[in-house]
Amino acid sequence: MPFAHLTGTVEAMTENAHHHQHHGGHENHDHAGLAEILNLDAQVLGSYLEDTTRWAAQLVGGTPATIVDAGAGSGAGTVALAKRFATANILAMDKSAQMLVHTLEAARVRGVEGRVSTVQADLDEPWPQIASSDLIWASSSLHEVSDPEQTMRQMFAGLNPGGLLIVVEMDALPLFLPVELDDCGAPQPGLESRLHAAVALQEWNSYPEWSAGLERAGFELVDKRSFPSVSSAAPGLTARYAQTFFARFRQALEKVVSADDLAALDRLLAATGTESLAHRTDLQVRGSRTAWAARKP
Ligand SMILES: C[S@@+](CC[C@H](N)C(=O)[O-])C[C@H]1O[C@@H](n2cnc3c(N)ncnc32)[C@H](O)[C@@H]1O
Repeated sequence: MPFAHLTGTVEAMTENAHHHQHHGGHENHDHAGLAEILNLDAQVLGSYLEDTTRWAAQLVGGTPATIVDAGAGSGAGTVALAKRFATANILAMDKSAQMLVHTLEAARVRGVEGRVSTVQADLDEPWPQIASSDLIWASSSLHEVSDPEQTMRQMFAGLNPGGLLIVVEMDALPLFLPVELDDCGAPQPGLESRLHAAVALQEWNSYPEWSAGLERAGFELVDKRSFPSVSSAAPGLTARYAQTFFARFRQALEKVVSADDLAALDRLLAATGTESLAHRTDLQVRGSRTAWAARKP
């Protein structure tokens, strides 16, 4: 997801603002690729949306009338919010016009288009003139802005008193390969953990613990929870999601990982062979999110 600068896809989900500032080519994001990986994530690991929106409903107090999905992406969160809060109007905000097209299409497919509207806006800029809201949702988006605390302050200003900000981040990139155990039955680091460590050095999915920043922006921290995702996706879908990630790893790490790991990556990505992601049946996709709930007093 997560979760954007998969020079188009996984990067777009994961790299932080610092990385952005040094890679101007991100203006040319492969939006279709990003939308695809976000949609795959929602289909394979999207159970967290059910859990996080239920938790938000318990915390928000009352019935929110207006909700902003800040950095809506392909609209998985927007749709989940519209389903959870059946009378709320959801405003999807994103700097990418293409993403907002995906969001509107997702809303149409799920039959909630009547309560979903969009605004193209850069979270790094002063917010557009929009009605203040009861709930702001920022999933895998806060770590992408240049100055997250400035964005938090704008979110604070954009909420009604008592309103809730929910920030969601991927705890780590999703894991797909079966866990290798050592002689004592303990998980042992394998290819996938080496790849994750290598992309961490490129600041994929990099973000601070948000609590202190939220408090500095004026929020009261209400709760912080971890939400593991449980996948019941068909093997073909899981394989596609895995292929997308591993292809991005290969692209990002070609000059970094050992020759052995590169060869292993190529066997995973090959169209045929016993290790091919396209054919193996032992993939075990695991992922989890952390969410912060912060209230404007
Ligand atoms: C990784 S995606 C997450 C999408 C969605 N919230 C989800 O969880 O699936 C991040 C989204 O934030 C958007 N984004 C990144 N920086 C932004 C900014 N400064 N202003 C507005 N949107 C931004 C990207 O265009 C992208 O759609």
